[in-house]
Amino acid sequence: MSKEAIVMLRAYLDRQAVKGVKRVPLTQTGRESLRALVKTPLGKRREAAAEAKIKAIETAAKAPLPAPVAASEPMATAIDVQGSSKEERLARLAVMAEEDPKPRALGTLREVMVFAVGSADAQILFVGEAPGAEEERQREPFVGPAGQLLTKIITNGMGIRREDVYITNICKFRPGMEGVQGSRNRQPMPEEMRACLPYVLTEINIIQPRVIVALGATAAAGLGIEGGVGRLRARFHEFSGIPVMVTYHPSWLLRQEQDGKGMEAKRFVWEDMLMVMERIGMPISEKQRGFFKPKA
Ligand code: URA
Repeated sequence: MSKEAIVMLRAYLDRQAVKGVKRVPLTQTGRESLRALVKTPLGKRREAAAEAKIKAIETAAKAPLPAPVAASEPMATAIDVQGSSKEERLARLAVMAEEDPKPRALGTLREVMVFAVGSADAQILFVGEAPGAEEERQREPFVGPAGQLLTKIITNGMGIRREDVYITNICKFRPGMEGVQGSRNRQPMPEEMRACLPYVLTEINIIQPRVIVALGATAAAGLGIEGGVGRLRARFHEFSGIPVMVTYHPSWLLRQEQDGKGMEAKRFVWEDMLMVMERIGMPISEKQRGFFKPKA
């Protein structure tokens, strides 16, 4: 496929991604030409370039447009919420989130709204995906098994109290599932995150943390930072003018632990947390630096 065709196809896919579209319909020919791009050696690729270019453009042009979810919508705007202190503004924002009919009108989220927990003056704001069963029951983010691990990272690792950071979710409701849901959870869909994004943006605007930590690729995507955690971690991105560190979600750490790969996984997250601590000028002891370091 020629460079031009790749650029055109890429631009089309990027436009879809901005709209929150994760899958695009392809014709059989389109599918075959993309497969050929992956499988064919470079020399043959050039020979097939003209044909592939036409097919790729045809495929893109013929693909039915997805529902115009975000096509004409701005990414998100902050909500104007007044109050005499940050705490008061956050409390009012939580009431607004509770009373907002839009997220519930999607019909895919459960009823209970779980807002956030922590300090309005936090320097670090953690953002996860969405509440799970235990969070829904206690109406507090990150209190189930993954939450307990996050609390350990904050307290035992970083040496600060859970109450001194701010913990929120990109989606304020537990995503619903067909049938009896029990303890099953699913990731929030783009439109579910979009319905909650004005609240997250406003929380960030009120708190003005020094650093945001996005836990997992879904939370990062909700902030417009797309990609796998492996590629996104260990460097700073930006959201609303604030540095963002993307790191692995604690649920992933728990799964890695079950597979006997817990140490390496924890080391990745710990390296990211050290960067966060450095960024805001927190003191770091030698002991902290040595956590999860492989033994020489
Ligand atoms: N996972 C999340 O992403 N958020 C929670 O609040 C709990 C688990």
